[in-house]
Amino acid sequence: MKSVVLPDYNKNVLRAMLSLKITDLEIPELKDDEVLIKTSASVCNPSDIAFIQGVYNIVKPVPAIPGFEGAGEIVKEGKNVSGLIGKKVSAFVQSNSSGTWSEYFVAKTTDIIVLDNNMPDEQSACFTVNPFTAYGMFEKARQLQTPAIIQNASGSQVATFLRKMAEEEGMLMIDIVRKEETAKTLRDEGAKHVLVESDENFDDQLKQISYQLKPHMAFDAVGGPLSGKIYNALAPHSEMMVYGGLSNKPMSELNVMGAIFHNKIVSGFNLIDWKSGLKANEFESISHSLQKKFIDGIYKTKIDKTVDIDNIIKGLKSYLGNMSAGKLLVKP
Ligand SMILES: NC(=O)c1ccc[n+]([C@@H]2O[C@H](COP(=O)([O-])OP(=O)(O)OC[C@H]3O[C@@H](n4cnc5c(N)ncnc54)[C@H](OP(=O)(O)O)[C@@H]3O)[C@@H](O)[C@H]2O)c1
Repeated sequence: MKSVVLPDYNKNVLRAMLSLKITDLEIPELKDDEVLIKTSASVCNPSDIAFIQGVYNIVKPVPAIPGFEGAGEIVKEGKNVSGLIGKKVSAFVQSNSSGTWSEYFVAKTTDIIVLDNNMPDEQSACFTVNPFTAYGMFEKARQLQTPAIIQNASGSQVATFLRKMAEEEGMLMIDIVRKEETAKTLRDEGAKHVLVESDENFDDQLKQISYQLKPHMAFDAVGGPLSGKIYNALAPHSEMMVYGGLSNKPMSELNVMGAIFHNKIVSGFNLIDWKSGLKANEFESISHSLQKKFIDGIYKTKIDKTVDIDNIIKGLKSYLGNMSAGKLLVKP
């Protein structure tokens, strides 16, 4: 099978990308509870970029096949699996020996979602991670019944789902982005309160809009001093949920008075932990309702480019140049 291979980790993202090799490998043998998937498409997420740099919480022995998420058709079953051959699935794979940037990949049955046949193919490749992340995080906003939410990295796909969910619940969203062009795109798409982090009046704008809209919930994917600015702008009795560290900087500048006197909490979100805390059949039911929204065209992951596996480096460069433009899909 044709696979992308990472020979070694490199903190320098450009060097890590340029080191990727396209290699012909043997199709792996299956363990009893695994399936072999013929990839239709896989995706590149920020976690994949952190992975090739060696700064993600999953570190596989190298050489390794990158790619945590993808979709395809089951073509072979392990001894303890039956009835899945020919099924269209979406998968999230973090095992040492497999990766989705490959013509075939191996997944445990617990890591796959068997899809409705009407699920659009390209959307399937990026279905297992971001829609569920947004869904799981948004539950907290719903519980808090917050009138408004602050989020950053608002051009991302998770943020786009969160904005849609907020709209469905009649909650207002204060969106923070780092580039004016992303702000323009979001405004053109209907976002009402978009702030650009680098604006000289950003701090005042954030304070003012938060004073007006009274957000009790924030979603932080960036870290660094922006975490503190958002935390400090939240109304009393609020929660800032951290789910990404895109700036690679520690959270800073959080006002201690907020925690002591205003009951402001900082929490973290991790999709895998959230999923493992669900009751039996709850995940299936959420997956079913999310798939319906994709099939009906209500939810959609923005796809910017699709490249074949031989052009992975070109594709990654383009994704890193403008992540808010949409996802990079890789086809074998
Ligand atoms: N905790 C979990 O369980 C979980 C699950 C899924 C995703 N995540 C996290 O969610 C975040 C978004 O993921 P995604 O797949 O939705 O992203 P995506 O669609 O690929 O887009 C990435 C976004 O991050 C922005 N960005 C990158 N570096 C930034 C920085 N230093 N400061 C501010 N913005 C920056 C990009 O803006 P530009 O266009 O300006 O580059 C772009 O809007 C990531 O941090 C990811 O790791 C967490």
